[in-house]
Amino acid sequence: MTTARPLPSQRSEFSVEDGVHYLNCAYFGPLPKSVEAAGIAGIRMKSSPAPFPSTNFFTDIDGLKTEFARLVGGEAHRVAVVGSVSYAVSAAADNVCAGPGQNIVIVEDQFPSNVYAWQRLAAERDLEIRVVGRPGPPPSRGLWNDRVLSAIDVATAVVALPQHHWTDGSLFDLVAAGRLARQVGAALIVDASQTVGAAPFSVSEVQPDMMVTVAYKWLMGPYSLGAAHFGPRFDDGRPLEAGWMGREGAEDFSRLAEYTSHYRPGAARYDAGETSNFITVPMMREALRRISEWDPASIELRLGELLTPLAEAAGELGWPCEDEAWRARHFLGLRLPDHVDPEAFDRALAAERVYLSRRGGSLRVSPGVFSEESDIGALIGVMRSVSSG
Ligand SMILES: Cc1ncc(COP(=O)(O)O)c(C=O)c1O
Repeated sequence: MTTARPLPSQRSEFSVEDGVHYLNCAYFGPLPKSVEAAGIAGIRMKSSPAPFPSTNFFTDIDGLKTEFARLVGGEAHRVAVVGSVSYAVSAAADNVCAGPGQNIVIVEDQFPSNVYAWQRLAAERDLEIRVVGRPGPPPSRGLWNDRVLSAIDVATAVVALPQHHWTDGSLFDLVAAGRLARQVGAALIVDASQTVGAAPFSVSEVQPDMMVTVAYKWLMGPYSLGAAHFGPRFDDGRPLEAGWMGREGAEDFSRLAEYTSHYRPGAARYDAGETSNFITVPMMREALRRISEWDPASIELRLGELLTPLAEAAGELGWPCEDEAWRARHFLGLRLPDHVDPEAFDRALAAERVYLSRRGGSLRVSPGVFSEESDIGALIGVMRSVSSG
């Protein structure tokens, strides 16, 4: 049983402008002030560098890996620092065993970074892509998840899923999907970009062969950086880049020309080149530290608490959304009712300075730890005004 309590508002830790109702973390999370300060310190260091040992190219990265492993309950040596979700998924796709007649299970409207690499693999090796469709307009009450589980069979080579669908927060049971994938020998690949930072994610429970997230959304970190956790399936894989930093002995710059085919253990081989960015790595490290300190379970409770009145108002006004048991607690996907003019709604949002995003027919409301009840209140006010014409 969780002992977590809802996190109090962290507004004062952010520079979000007063009067702006920013409900768009699923798109782009703002930086806490301490993360901004870590980035500025990195810029200053680069402007006037003092001599530093070559091992510094690795210590910040190692610290980041330790923080990430702590957050997702994984192992630090299994974490790779990547530039994007597409990068990590492409590396995984290059290293899965799959052949003609096998299939890859994904869901409808999945984010493209966890689709294109599978389409390429399917075309090259004659595999079937099984796109599990939405059962219809929300609420699906778990039917979508059931269909995903039913799509996994003995011919499945890869199950590539999110925990929360990026358009509307629909929830998939990754523990069950992982269990089935392991039974048939398929690889489970998870894009957790819409989960990690806002809700608990457990590598030890889900047991993904690879999971990855960006830093710039719910983790409140910089753009162009993410972290991936690779399981033993990929231990001897071939990285996308023939880089040098993941090789054994790379810390000793005086011996770099003593080339080696040996990599450092775990996932270091999948680190993207020049990951030791002295500006963004300390930023992401600090962001991870903050999220762990706030505690994802407490963050999730806080965001759920903020969104409850919105879900109630949506029900009252007839704006469809997913059933509580089968949606994210930290963000809400709403559908515009037929009688509401989308342009009038957009104009009303802009007038009230309410920011959210529209994805695949869904209005995605994604507050953060800096959000307050008044931010949700402003959105409810807009919904009421356009609903009454
Ligand atoms: C679910 C999900 N995954 C990944 C990304 C970003 O992917 P990439 O890092 O490949 O640009 C996004 C961005 O919106 C997303 O919503």
